Amino acid sequence: MNNLFLRTARFYDLDMSDLATHDLAFYRGHAALSQGPILELACGTGRVTIALARAGHSVHGLDLSNSMLAILETKLAGERPEVSDRVSITQGDMAEFNLGRRFSSVIVPFRAFQALTSFEQQRGCLLSVRRHLEPGGRFILDVFMPHPHVLQRWEGATGHVDWVAHDPETGETITRRSRCRRVDPERQIIYPELSFEVTSSDGSVHTFADQLALRFFYPYQIQTLLATHGFRIEEEWGDYQCGPLGYGPEQIYVCRSLA
Ligand SMILES: C[S@@+](CC[C@H](N)C(=O)[O-])C[C@H]1O[C@@H](n2cnc3c(N)ncnc32)[C@H](O)[C@@H]1O
Repeated sequence: MNNLFLRTARFYDLDMSDLATHDLAFYRGHAALSQGPILELACGTGRVTIALARAGHSVHGLDLSNSMLAILETKLAGERPEVSDRVSITQGDMAEFNLGRRFSSVIVPFRAFQALTSFEQQRGCLLSVRRHLEPGGRFILDVFMPHPHVLQRWEGATGHVDWVAHDPETGETITRRSRCRRVDPERQIIYPELSFEVTSSDGSVHTFADQLALRFFYPYQIQTLLATHGFRIEEEWGDYQCGPLGYGPEQIYVCRSLA
């Protein structure tokens, strides 16, 4: 199954370390406006979950990947009890879920909604979100902005090196590569492969790779999806510093659930 980081989960936080300085303040700011528990869909390794719990919020994280959730659980075990006690977790599919409770806000950070490549999955997710929001609750969704070069960029991706990092604790050198296996312009799906090459201090090399399938959306498509599933968009941004939509790498929508 695509998108679940089954072999590469342990590299995820390392990979996200740059981004983490950008979106956490945004989500913390919105959480501060929220009076009740937060549901985070596709919470992964808990990058955002733990930051919100540290800021005093109760967070329920849902993710389909056992590999990602295992890392979240290990991280929680190292947190102070007052932080870890604020976090609960469900392994499940955001395309259709029933947690039997409501939340004052639901968030889907870092483009995870794009893992839902079919309309049925997107619709199932949005209907599930509505069922889990308190009246007037807030829903925050983030997907990447497909600038005009999106197809050329992915079609041309043939395994270039994104970064190289050295882990002083293990002595390992980690090289991250990405390539695109296929682009489907009609269905607006890209099929990237993420790979991490680990060179140990004894010179042995092991490669861990995962395949992704990500649907990309133009703003009018997300705006229509949200409007036709009972959400009113209150804010839309192009980056986490609240720059205008269309000028940054992201599409961030802050919505209210209509009664
Ligand atoms: C890019 S990561 C984002 C993780 C986290 N939200 C963050 O910002 O660091 C995408 C996450 O989506 C999860 N995922 C993919 N498809 C899913 C699905 N259908 N239901 C729930 N989680 C899913 C993956 O397991 C992965 O943890």
